[in-house]
Amino acid sequence: MVNAAKRVLVFDSGVGGLSVFDAIAASGRAFELDYAADNAWLPYGLKTDEQLRDRVPALIARLAEQWAPEAVVVACNTASTIVLEQVRAALSIPVVGVVPPIKPAAAATRTGVMGLLATPATVQRAYTDDLIAQFAGGKKVIRFGSAALVEAAEQKLRGEDPGQSAITEAVAGLFGAPGGADIDVVALACTHFPLLAAELAAAAPRPCLWMDSGEAIARRLAHVLAAEEGAPSVRRAAFTSADAARASLRAFESRGFSDFSHIAEAPSFEVAPLLRATSV
Ligand code: DGL
Repeated sequence: MVNAAKRVLVFDSGVGGLSVFDAIAASGRAFELDYAADNAWLPYGLKTDEQLRDRVPALIARLAEQWAPEAVVVACNTASTIVLEQVRAALSIPVVGVVPPIKPAAAATRTGVMGLLATPATVQRAYTDDLIAQFAGGKKVIRFGSAALVEAAEQKLRGEDPGQSAITEAVAGLFGAPGGADIDVVALACTHFPLLAAELAAAAPRPCLWMDSGEAIARRLAHVLAAEEGAPSVRRAAFTSADAARASLRAFESRGFSDFSHIAEAPSFEVAPLLRATSV
């Protein structure tokens, strides 16, 4: 029988792409899912545009060469907002990026005041300004950039206590800003942040809608690949830092991954098996 499942590579700097992976895995489509994390370079949100342009397209292109996916999901807002066109130019398969969910958040706010939580890089990008001008004209958009929240999400998925400080700081940055008390919708424009949605909601001074892009990406992916209905399967995960990945393997195992690899340094980005025996 012909295997109808579509092979997809989900890419992020760390575990954040798992929030997108979860939405894709829950979409009821026959995908075969691989995951790659450039965790040696985490956090992308503190890298310059130039650093990301020099590294990310080359890394994704090498992974695609070795794993032959039928589509790539750049499950990282920080990378998508800066390198998507370069990644598309380097590959001959569909590349789906993450767009900060500013449009649905603007449509959902009743008070006319929305929050935008992203990495320090994403909050100040021209791409973000354009999205706000295009889709949130007439709304008040309160932005807050946090790299500490990225680390808190990494900690949570390592099974550690993420602590309150990054969460408190982000909530204060949004709701404590002038006009912030009226925020009723927050666009989570970093894929790490939906992993902390419960903690953020618990710390917020009022009930809000916390919106992310996971489901929209899963729908887009199903559309571009004309993916059939079916159960997703999970193949392998690879990391640029094997040492840092070991602490997070449980988060991957609980999602069905059992095959782990290491990605060698630039420019080879060669993928080689990482023995599970050394992972604990
Ligand atoms: N998960 C990434 C994003 O969506 C970036 C986190 C980081 O490496 O700074 O922006």
